Amino acid sequence: MRFTRDKMKKEYFGFGSVCNLKEILDKEKPKNIFLVTGKSSYEKSGAKDAIKSILSNYNITHFCNFEVNPKLKDIIKGIDLFKKEACDLVIGIGGGSVIDMAKSINCFANNPAIPSEYLKKEKIIENKGRSLIAIPTTSGSGSESTHFAVIYMCGRKYSLAHEFILPDYSIIDPSFTLNIPKKITASSGMDALGQAIESYWCVNSTDQSKQYASKAIKLVMNNLVNAANNFSKESREAIAKAAHLAGKAINITKTTVPHSISYPLTSHFGIPHGHAVSLTLPSILIYNSKITEQECLDIRGVAYVKKTINEIVNLLGCGSEKDAKNKLVYLMKNIGLETNLRDLGISNLEIIIKEGFNPDRVKNNPRLLTESNLREILKELF
Ligand SMILES: [Fe+2]
Repeated sequence: MRFTRDKMKKEYFGFGSVCNLKEILDKEKPKNIFLVTGKSSYEKSGAKDAIKSILSNYNITHFCNFEVNPKLKDIIKGIDLFKKEACDLVIGIGGGSVIDMAKSINCFANNPAIPSEYLKKEKIIENKGRSLIAIPTTSGSGSESTHFAVIYMCGRKYSLAHEFILPDYSIIDPSFTLNIPKKITASSGMDALGQAIESYWCVNSTDQSKQYASKAIKLVMNNLVNAANNFSKESREAIAKAAHLAGKAINITKTTVPHSISYPLTSHFGIPHGHAVSLTLPSILIYNSKITEQECLDIRGVAYVKKTINEIVNLLGCGSEKDAKNKLVYLMKNIGLETNLRDLGISNLEIIIKEGFNPDRVKNNPRLLTESNLREILKELF
């Protein structure tokens, strides 16, 4: 089923917007809040200090004992705690992993079957969870504006997707991103850019998703170098906005090939998600630009896809696909990200090829990707 909802119930953006949490809690009147945070980011980002007086009026069950890239075993620990404490509202404060963790626990704790049955699509989600407030402390995944959550089960990536998972409230306060180290700002910024570009060329794109994606692409291209290298307030605000818009874009379209290939790079080689996405993004831009009639997966046709790729090239501020590819590689180098697989210690291409074909993502790409195409692309990056 194609899902096009992109509205959330309420969103707040800007420096100081976290103070709106009080108004939300006054309205929701929770008896016991399930608070999901990162182990150290909650304090380091300044979020803990910013909301402690608001939360002091409520019973809080705090869950932070889990690894990044949400694992099912950690989610199950969270579900047990959520149920034991009879929580009736969820707040997720952190990066994409933390917000995905909050979404997944809230969903599973309020549905009857065991989580693996939903992940394997043996059961359908029946119930909406409790009200969920998402407060990102990084600028990348846009998880606060999507109706899906990434979960790793037995080392493989699954996507939990349902309209019930979309957060009821999101608060994007860029002040929490001001102290984030360069490497994380760089990687998460490239996630936002990858999501925006992939959404733009995705076979599910709409006028609305393209509007979100085009704004996000321009914001990243104009601000990421400054945000990563100089910690400037204005540029970090711009990247926070870009990440949120890119999240809204993929909430409509979902992602495509660079995301599909990124998952084994993250699960087997520990490459941070945004960095993993960006490794193949420049090559897939070229690959998609060479689309033919026989390989076109977009019902709007080859001419439409070529026009779309041309628009992306323009949004990147370039005159040709080759220039656009070089500009993306240059951007990565400029913000301190390795651009080839050898430098990252990756030697086993076969596992990437085997697991990089996530059917839900590859079928969204405008040009059909075969195993031999992917092998060629990866060899060039070696
Ligand atoms: Fe992503």
